[in-house]
Amino acid sequence: MIGIFDSGLGGLSALKEVRRLLPSEDIVYFGDTGRVPYGSRSKETITKYALQDLNFLMSKQVDAVLVACGTISSIAIDTLRNKYPSIPIIGVVDSAAEVAVSLTKNKKIGVIATSSTIGSHSFEKKLLSLDNELDIIQTACPLFVPLVENGFISPDNEVTHLVAKQYLAEIKASGADTLILGCTHYPIITESIARVLPGVNIVSSSKAAADTLSQMVQPTEINRLGNTEYYVSDEPYGFEKTASIFLETKIHDKVTRIDIEKY
Ligand code: DGL
Repeated sequence: MIGIFDSGLGGLSALKEVRRLLPSEDIVYFGDTGRVPYGSRSKETITKYALQDLNFLMSKQVDAVLVACGTISSIAIDTLRNKYPSIPIIGVVDSAAEVAVSLTKNKKIGVIATSSTIGSHSFEKKLLSLDNELDIIQTACPLFVPLVENGFISPDNEVTHLVAKQYLAEIKASGADTLILGCTHYPIITESIARVLPGVNIVSSSKAAADTLSQMVQPTEINRLGNTEYYVSDEPYGFEKTASIFLETKIHDKVTRIDIEKY
């Protein structure tokens, strides 16, 4: 069983890829919808929340975990790995950086993520360790998270488009040929982002991490479709509604509310 978690809906962008790559695996997903967003909180709070989230997934006997959150991957992944050293815990920073470096031709890479992720310089450090001649342009885009959480995910949504236009102006002006979506909420609005930056390679940190995970997990059974369980920490309605649109499948009877403070 694979565990995937995020502060809310964002990790579903990783779940969708994992489901595609590993159709027979059972997956348990947790979205901390009662405490989203994480990306503007302190290191202490993000670490405390991330440990509780992981403790919950471990109670479901998962054998591998995808930390489908750029913020936790940037701030707290070492703490998580130290707490549970016996299972693979994959974050979303390293694989995305590797993909971006393989794609850029002009060595200019844009990174968009939450304020905490940008402040941690996690993507910048990883990118420069791969190629120290890169020019990296970073922008925090905190408003994208509540837009996604509130279902503003249609490529035609004008509010999301205007916010994207404003946030991405500096990256557009820089001429970067590659952009990392360093927050897992952002791949859910890829089309809105791509419309502002035509011709730019868009790297989903969720997809890159799902690819890495799929190479590490040996599928156990071939001829069965894996089950997916969804857990959230507050009223499931909004999560069910937006998740069903994004995943293109109704999940209304599959989402359970838990008290994350108990973990
Ligand atoms: N989706 C998360 C990330 O990748 C967290 C967004 C948030 O809660 O602020 O950073």
